[in-house]
Amino acid sequence: MNYELLQIVALLTVIAFGGALRKATGACGSDDLEGLMGFKNGIQMDTSGRLAKWVGRSCCEWEGVVCDNATTRVTQINLPGLIEKDLFQTQMVGQLSPSITLLTSLEILDLGGLVGLTGTIPQTIGLQMPNLQKLYLYGNNLTGPVPESIGDLPRLQELALHENKISGSIPSTIGSLKKLKSLLLYSNQISGTIPFSLGNLTNLVELDVHDNAIMGQVPNSIGQMQALEKLDLSSNMLSGSIPSSLTNLTAISVLYMDTNYLEGTIPFPSRSGEMPSLGFLRLHNNHLSGNIPPSFGYLVSLKRVSLSNNKIEGALPSSLGNLHSLTELYLSDNSFSGQIPKSIGQLSQLIMLNISSNLIEWPLPQEISSLQNLQTLDLSFNPLNLSSIPPWLTSISSLSRISLAGCGIKGQIPDSLQTTQSPIQELDLSGNLLSGSIPSWIGSLSQLYLLNLSSNSLDSHIPESLTNLPDLGVLDLHSNKLTGSIAGVFDTEQGTLTYIDLSDNNFSSGVEAIGVGEQLNIQYLNLSHNLLKGTLPSSLGKLNSIHSLDLSFNELASNLPEMLAKLTLLERLKLQGNHFSGKIPSGFLKLKKLKELDLSDNVLEGEIPEGKPLTDFPGSTYSGNKGLCGKPLNPCKE
Ligand SMILES: *[C@@H]1O[C@H](CO)[C@@H](O)[C@H](O)[C@H]1NC(C)=O
Ligand SMILES: *[C@@H]1O[C@H](CO)[C@@H](O)[C@H](O)[C@H]1NC(C)=O
Ligand SMILES: *[C@@H]1O[C@H](CO)[C@@H](O)[C@H](O)[C@H]1NC(C)=O
Ligand SMILES: *[C@@H]1O[C@H](CO)[C@@H](O)[C@H](O)[C@H]1NC(C)=O
Ligand SMILES: *[C@@H]1O[C@H](CO)[C@@H](O)[C@H](O)[C@H]1NC(C)=O
Ligand SMILES: *[C@@H]1O[C@H](CO)[C@@H](O)[C@H](O)[C@H]1NC(C)=O
Ligand SMILES: *[C@@H]1O[C@H](CO)[C@@H](O)[C@H](O)[C@H]1NC(C)=O
Ligand SMILES: *[C@@H]1O[C@H](CO)[C@@H](O)[C@H](O)[C@H]1NC(C)=O
Ligand SMILES: *[C@@H]1O[C@H](CO)[C@@H](O)[C@H](O)[C@H]1NC(C)=O
Repeated sequence: MNYELLQIVALLTVIAFGGALRKATGACGSDDLEGLMGFKNGIQMDTSGRLAKWVGRSCCEWEGVVCDNATTRVTQINLPGLIEKDLFQTQMVGQLSPSITLLTSLEILDLGGLVGLTGTIPQTIGLQMPNLQKLYLYGNNLTGPVPESIGDLPRLQELALHENKISGSIPSTIGSLKKLKSLLLYSNQISGTIPFSLGNLTNLVELDVHDNAIMGQVPNSIGQMQALEKLDLSSNMLSGSIPSSLTNLTAISVLYMDTNYLEGTIPFPSRSGEMPSLGFLRLHNNHLSGNIPPSFGYLVSLKRVSLSNNKIEGALPSSLGNLHSLTELYLSDNSFSGQIPKSIGQLSQLIMLNISSNLIEWPLPQEISSLQNLQTLDLSFNPLNLSSIPPWLTSISSLSRISLAGCGIKGQIPDSLQTTQSPIQELDLSGNLLSGSIPSWIGSLSQLYLLNLSSNSLDSHIPESLTNLPDLGVLDLHSNKLTGSIAGVFDTEQGTLTYIDLSDNNFSSGVEAIGVGEQLNIQYLNLSHNLLKGTLPSSLGKLNSIHSLDLSFNELASNLPEMLAKLTLLERLKLQGNHFSGKIPSGFLKLKKLKELDLSDNVLEGEIPEGKPLTDFPGSTYSGNKGLCGKPLNPCKE
């Protein structure tokens, strides 16, 4: 053996033995060790106790660290906040150390959901960590920008930076991440425009099968292999228009850009066959304008679409009828005009249709009645001039939520509802021109949870059948001309109501029943602007879930009951414009959550009990009484 060969053998032995030694001891390379220790030193507190056990050199055996067995290099750091195996949420408080970039073989970095982790994404991440495939830094407390160098991570497949305080704009270099499948940047403070280069994240891998000898089919998976499937930029501060290049995202399935400041028109698709897998599209809460392009009907995989709260106008294209997979369509709060196209009847999978607050006109196409899976229909606040509820509507056997507020419905509450087979849970006919009585058959809608008949001209009593409905939770009858007693609402065996608004009617009696029955889960009670007389019963003190109580502008006369002090969840208490007399009970000082109080225009007297929250309210809270004094009014005379 000659000398040189000996040297080589020796060298190989050292390499092999070094690797074997590190394998045996679980040690990792020294750069990796330094990177891990740097990361650990940035963390002041770790409730999981995982980092406390990171001692010595055997880093390949540390919890949350994975090494490659052959090279002993660290390839994964898995320290998510939620420990899956026992669903345990942990905390790490500290700074994300830039020394993490010393781990140059890292493929997966998962620090998701550690809400106490601050700092920035290391600027040089793209230059130093070329093997990264998955970067999960979501749900932290990171600030600063997405580094430009992120575009230099050729193997990156998943980038999840959502739910941080990341600012700056999206670097256009992101368009070079040829393997990116999922880009989640939602719920940050990212501004600027959406880079045109995002349209490069496609599977247009120059796939030329022409003049080749490939036998059989090109595997389908090739098309899916290297292309963006999920893009979520929602809840940021992005402006400008949606880049037309997105139309090239051949594999996109989830596209969320809602709740930003985007403007301009919806640019896709430009022709049939584009975005063939797009299933979930959210563009709501932006400033988008223009029409829904007729080509929209080419997006045949769409399941859920939300365009609400934009400035989109024009007629709904009849091509919408081609979206056979559509289950949910949200179009509310735009300026859509004209009629609903008849083709809507082809959307046989549709469960939810919300077109409220637009400029849609009469007539409604009867084809809607073929939507036999429809559960929610909201056509409220359109100039529909419906006059009556179309009888075919109640033949939709799955319909459980009907909102036809502000649709110009006239006359009596239509009888067609009486015989419906639909399992109606929510019925909103508010803001119409309904007159006459609340029919007692309403009590046969046995699944009713919400009834909103507010702002009509109904002038009957409240039928007893209504207040005995087993699931009734929300009852809004405000601003009608209803008369008689409110006692039936309270004096029942049911305990389901949480929201009761009977304000602005002509009710004259029944306050003595409040708290007498089982109706004790009430959180909101508004009886203001009626003709209610009498004294408040002490059973009122049993409504211990109540947040908001408004009895203002009635003819109630009594002392302010001491037991009101038991309603410690109260945030709003309005008793103004009655004939309450006597002193303000000192127990009111226990109402620590009170944010709004109005006792004005009664006949109260004596000293305002001193202390929070009572003395923090303005003078107007107490004005117009017989003789109240003390802070915030003038001092009492001795
Ligand atoms: C590496 O070693 C660990 C533990 O010895 C073993 O569980 C794992 O399967 C190995 N991985 C590979 C890729 O060989
Ligand atoms: C996030 O960081 C800010 C300071 O940058 C700090 O005030 C805040 O409490 C942190 N939030 C959490 C949840 O740790
Ligand atoms: C990426 O997109 C930009 C802007 O659309 C374009 O100029 C560039 O040529 C694209 N790069 C590649 C590699 O396709
Ligand atoms: C889509 O990709 C093709 C091929 O790369 C390109 O020619 C076209 O300009 C792209 N379209 C848009 C709107 O970016
Ligand atoms: C329809 O959308 C509007 C606005 O987004 C919303 O307020 C309303 O609750 C929705 N209707 C139903 C029945 O969910
Ligand atoms: C619908 O009703 C409104 C107000 O009631 C009225 O101004 C409008 O002319 C009516 N439109 C039609 C088409 O009848
Ligand atoms: C009833 O409908 C009106 C609008 O017509 C709305 O302002 C009110 O909040 C609704 N009530 C409930 C309890 O949802
Ligand atoms: C109670 O109803 C009246 C009249 O409808 C309204 O002005 C008032 O704001 C309501 N009070 C509360 C606390 O919501
Ligand atoms: C409701 O009360 C007002 C004021 O007392 C009265 O003018 C009106 O006629 C009453 N309306 C009905 C329908 O009883």
